[in-house]
Amino acid sequence: MSNNIFQRPPHLPLIAPSILAADFGRLAEEASDAQRIGADLLHVDVMDGHFVPNLTMGPDIVMALRRACSLMLDVHLMVSDPQDFIKPFVDAGAGSITFHIEAPGLKQFGAVDLIHRIQDHGLTAGICLNPETPPESLSGVLPVVDLVLVMSVHPGFTGQGFIPETLDKVRWLRHRLQPNQRLSIDGGIGIRTAHDALEAGADVLVAGAAIFREKDRAEAVRLLRGDYPRG
Ligand code: DX5
Ligand code: ZN
Repeated sequence: MSNNIFQRPPHLPLIAPSILAADFGRLAEEASDAQRIGADLLHVDVMDGHFVPNLTMGPDIVMALRRACSLMLDVHLMVSDPQDFIKPFVDAGAGSITFHIEAPGLKQFGAVDLIHRIQDHGLTAGICLNPETPPESLSGVLPVVDLVLVMSVHPGFTGQGFIPETLDKVRWLRHRLQPNQRLSIDGGIGIRTAHDALEAGADVLVAGAAIFREKDRAEAVRLLRGDYPRG
């Protein structure tokens, strides 16, 4: 396992706004706004139009986000050949790279080797699984990975409905991960689903629409974190 940079104590969830739901015409301002509202990480969804039916951001945009804020950039690779993109995203300033266990390119380049390659660059290495993928498929990588990302929607787009059955995977994984390994959930996270995900054992919440499309974004972050006003 690498020197994990997700430093917040494990009992407090990390909030990772997904820049996919931001205004792309004002990307730099949106990234610095994520910092202003108290986010812990900035989640960056990279899609190649093959692994998922959408195209988004490449290393140049990650580089621009790096200049616009000092949040750790949590790069989520939804691409068929993640092994070809580690170095470009490392050079662009990613702090964490997560790839999918279903990626076809892993047939040649094993998932464990790719995790080590990410960690050798000093980054946090994550593995992700789609809603229909059984958690047992991660057994080989669980001992070495820093973070597991559970998809709670079919990857590709912001603003989709949460798939409640994915919470069983969160519970399954929580029992098998060490306390210093992070368990993240991505897709359809709002106040209610955040609560359910935290109860199931998630400790990083990725949220796009529920933050960037809210009027009071700072309040949205506080509510997702479960930081309710007292009295
Ligand atoms: C979906 C992406 C998510 C997405 C989440 O493929 O991986 O990170 O941006 O957006 P919301 O929170 O709106 O479902
Ligand atoms: Zn994502």
